[in-house]
Amino acid sequence: MQQTPQNPPAAITPQPVRSGIDVVVNGEPFRHTGEPELPLIWYLRDVLRLTGCKYGCDDASCGACSVLVDGKLKLACTLTMQSLAGRRITTIEGLAGAHGELHPVQQAWIEEDAILCGYCQPGQIMAAVDLLTRKPHPSDKDIDGIGNLCRCGSYPRIRSAIKRASKVMRDKPR
Ligand code: FES
Ligand code: FES
Repeated sequence: MQQTPQNPPAAITPQPVRSGIDVVVNGEPFRHTGEPELPLIWYLRDVLRLTGCKYGCDDASCGACSVLVDGKLKLACTLTMQSLAGRRITTIEGLAGAHGELHPVQQAWIEEDAILCGYCQPGQIMAAVDLLTRKPHPSDKDIDGIGNLCRCGSYPRIRSAIKRASKVMRDKPR
């Protein structure tokens, strides 16, 4: 006997697509449908729960919120979501490879024991990735020029880690 098609349940009502700001974060597409002025740092931390990006100051001076936007180092506390439509954002959570293998900078950080309290370190690592992309063989001055603050004073260890990562990345480009 032929089945009569059933009406769909009343709860399933077609909805218009919500407009918003499309971004790609760590390779995944997202649509921000909230306040366009929301700073990226709070979108990452409060909406996507990517808490590696840290809030360390209120005057764009500490670098704890450093992320990459289209491969360039940016401060997530200074960017609004409306300025980021169509952009690709990379946070510390997206730095490892597809199978979880650490980025050479992350690995060097472990090997040089660069992490003290850890608060500034995601930002330090993102800044180091940016530096090594621009300058595969950075001088001490280049490294000091990063300028991210560390209240624990891990600067000598960070310098060693960047030099270690620099060698690994030159010997074995990703
Ligand atoms: S939170 Fe300090 S520079 Fe962004
Ligand atoms: S490791 Fe503590 S603030 Fe940098």
